[in-house]
Amino acid sequence: MKIPITRPVLDEKDLEYISKPIKSGWLVQGPYVKEFEEKFVEYTGAKYAIATTSCTTALHLSLIALGVSENDKVIVPAFTFVATANVVEYLRAKPIFVDINLKTFNIDEEKIEEVILKEKDIKVIIPVNLFGLCANLPRIIEIADKYNIEVVEDSACAFGSYIYNKHSGTFGALGCFSFHPRKVITTGEGGIIITNSYKLAENLRILRDHGASKNDFLRHNSKYSFLLPEYNVLGYNYRMTDIQGALGVSQLLKADRILSKRREVAKKYYKFLGDIDYLILPFVPDNYEHSFQSFVCLYVRDREIFSKLSKISIEEIDKLSEERNKIMFYLEEMGISTRQGTHALHILGYYKNKYNLKPVDFINSYVADKLSISLPIYDMTDQEFEYIIDSIRKVINRIK
Ligand SMILES: Cc1ncc(COP(=O)(O)O)c(C=O)c1O
Repeated sequence: MKIPITRPVLDEKDLEYISKPIKSGWLVQGPYVKEFEEKFVEYTGAKYAIATTSCTTALHLSLIALGVSENDKVIVPAFTFVATANVVEYLRAKPIFVDINLKTFNIDEEKIEEVILKEKDIKVIIPVNLFGLCANLPRIIEIADKYNIEVVEDSACAFGSYIYNKHSGTFGALGCFSFHPRKVITTGEGGIIITNSYKLAENLRILRDHGASKNDFLRHNSKYSFLLPEYNVLGYNYRMTDIQGALGVSQLLKADRILSKRREVAKKYYKFLGDIDYLILPFVPDNYEHSFQSFVCLYVRDREIFSKLSKISIEEIDKLSEERNKIMFYLEEMGISTRQGTHALHILGYYKNKYNLKPVDFINSYVADKLSISLPIYDMTDQEFEYIIDSIRKVINRIK
């Protein structure tokens, strides 16, 4: 049996939707991107949405819109996908890493204030709502407000994630989402920014469109369409195509169904893997709703080790990591794809060398990098699910 790590939900309805712009001939950002933005606003409860080519470009534009520039400092968790920090580097600003809480894999909010006081002039915090679980956003916003710092949520993985029924991406000034095929809903590549600020939204629309004061669709459908608009700011081409917009609309129509299937599989993982001492399953705090974009466990061999992980040596972590890799290797041999959750940025060549960072500098992020295992999660058959559970049990017995 072959079990991929992800399986985007694509059907005839999606084909029908993407054929619409192809039939009309309007392929660039147009009516379907607009409809996608309107539906996204409805879904998340934000006031405005600005679709982009990816979450990376959404984050990049967000920092520009907030005025981040050379030598500014931006707080980023040390365990996240590399794009979260790369967008800071694009602007020649400096990412300031903060370690994560190993229970949630999200930035440790209790470490943020200490870093703000040490670094002094932090301009923005980018909490990441990793794997579909929101960071402790109420607390992070409280700290940011105290020091007059802006918050941009990296919600790449957190479509359908909530705290007290408030959707991810609506806590900070701006929230950025990804529609890469490993996400809950997909447009192939694609991203979106949400905000409640009219001013930021207008600015972002201009920035994603080469700095144009009026977009092509509006211009083509108004008088004097033969004249090009004003370009008063330096902009980018970060526009989503209308084919992607149409796919986004169609994906949003089935989003609740996709999410509930993922939650059903997650529930079964808790039921059938909960007794395995070797794995810590994802933790969901009270009043948080997890979208389960990923189901990321931590390989610990023995639950007793979990509370001591921040204190064990790098050598011991690396030894456990070899066992984790063996598990993933055996599963791969059995046709089951798994992945490490994401990576610790301070041990990636670019960041390690540029900022002279050591594994122990952000120990929880190091542990998460070395010991996390992401299991396949999507609408799968009972047979596929049983095969995964059976294989995990066999593999664990093999490494005992
Ligand atoms: C936390 C996080 N931020 C940013 C991104 C970048 O998203 P995109 O691939 O849409 O640029 C990803 C992608 O997986 C991610 O996981």
